[in-house]
Amino acid sequence: SQRPRHVRKMLREILGKKNFSYLEAASELALSRRQSVYLVGGIVRDLILRTPNFDIDLVVEGDAQPFANALAEQLAGRLRFHERFKTGVIILPDGLRIDVASSRNEYYESPGALPSVTVGSIKRDLYRRDFSINAMAVSLNTFELLDFFGGVQDIRDRKVRVLHNLSFIEDPTRMFRAVRFEQRYEFDIGDQTLKLLRRARDLDLLQHISSQRIYDELRHMLNEEYPSRHIARLFELDLLRSLHSSMGFDRKTLELVSSMEDLLVVSDFLRMEDLRRDVLYLAILLRSLKPEQIIDIPLLQELSRRDRQLIALGFSRSAELLQCIHSEGKLWRKLRLVSQYENDIILLAMVRSNSQQRSWHFLRDYLRSYANTLPILRGDELIKMGVPEGPAVADALCMLQAYIVRRGNNRPDRDEEELFVQRIVMPCLTRR
Ligand code: CTP
Repeated sequence: SQRPRHVRKMLREILGKKNFSYLEAASELALSRRQSVYLVGGIVRDLILRTPNFDIDLVVEGDAQPFANALAEQLAGRLRFHERFKTGVIILPDGLRIDVASSRNEYYESPGALPSVTVGSIKRDLYRRDFSINAMAVSLNTFELLDFFGGVQDIRDRKVRVLHNLSFIEDPTRMFRAVRFEQRYEFDIGDQTLKLLRRARDLDLLQHISSQRIYDELRHMLNEEYPSRHIARLFELDLLRSLHSSMGFDRKTLELVSSMEDLLVVSDFLRMEDLRRDVLYLAILLRSLKPEQIIDIPLLQELSRRDRQLIALGFSRSAELLQCIHSEGKLWRKLRLVSQYENDIILLAMVRSNSQQRSWHFLRDYLRSYANTLPILRGDELIKMGVPEGPAVADALCMLQAYIVRRGNNRPDRDEEELFVQRIVMPCLTRR
């Protein structure tokens, strides 16, 4: 059931107690200001799906600015408001963002007409949205669920459905969004919607859309948990080539992408939260292009130079890394070698080797523990002990690191490290 009491309870569940208290504050403010305020967009969809979501999007009927100001003040947050778009974002002390927008059609109406069209205008706001599942709202005045376009039913039927025939033409990026929601929730794009999508695709509308907006959608897809599904579906719908003419999806690519997915599932156990997943996947998808071709792709111009270089060179650099480790026998030399590569390249190298190979295990262990196994002695202390300045210091540190790794749980203390430097490292360095 979607009775207000039930809606409240579900919201508390998917948002958690603290985030829900912000919503309650917004609700009380709406009541005391006698202003209609709605929770809209993806969070309402995820409420019905009972999936956690922390993107609080509010639509305020009338001018959103005074409401946003008051809410920011009450929650001790910072408000940034764009006058021109009449939208703002409140950043709370704990980092949570609350987006606040004025209902979209408000400025077309005379102010006097507003109170009597309250429901009408939120309905029109919702009607401009992409799919029925994303076009529901919860009134924060009453905690009623507003579902004008059959969103709940479509969630039950597991359907992605546009609200009208011109939806993809008005906003061609929705073609990607349709695939994203379909694959994320394992829904189906509805028959009629699929027809409209194909028709819009054949009109070549994307050429009029900024690369930034298209890349935003692509990034969202590549940041999903299983991008291989999304890419396969784009390929099937012949949308992949609209991103770049040489983007295909053959068996080898599927294998590489899936193996990257597997790796990234465990990436927090590898302690690598700051990975750019989109960049890693693009390095795989575009691996057959020459670096200079990649650097010039318009779609990628929004990315930083570093990211573009990683996409352009990542795959070949990972091959080089594998090759070098393979031909290197000594642990400390391997450590010295890998330390010169970024984590992204190491992951790409793992993806292109496989878990039957020794180098794969070495790289995994490197990311998982060796990289964080640092000697107690620092470079300047080694120099004081007689290690010559320059590259020899890094060599010595890697020898020490290899020594610590080999000792496993029996980690050497400072004295033992010093002893190791005097007895093993120094003679080894002077012999060269
Ligand atoms: N929206 C739309 N058309 C677009 C982009 C967005 O109609 N091209 C609307 C949808 O109602 C969507 C809302 O704006 O729910 C918020 O957009 P966004 O944050 O991109 O999507 P979410 O639905 O929140 O998706 P996600 O769960 O991936 O954050």
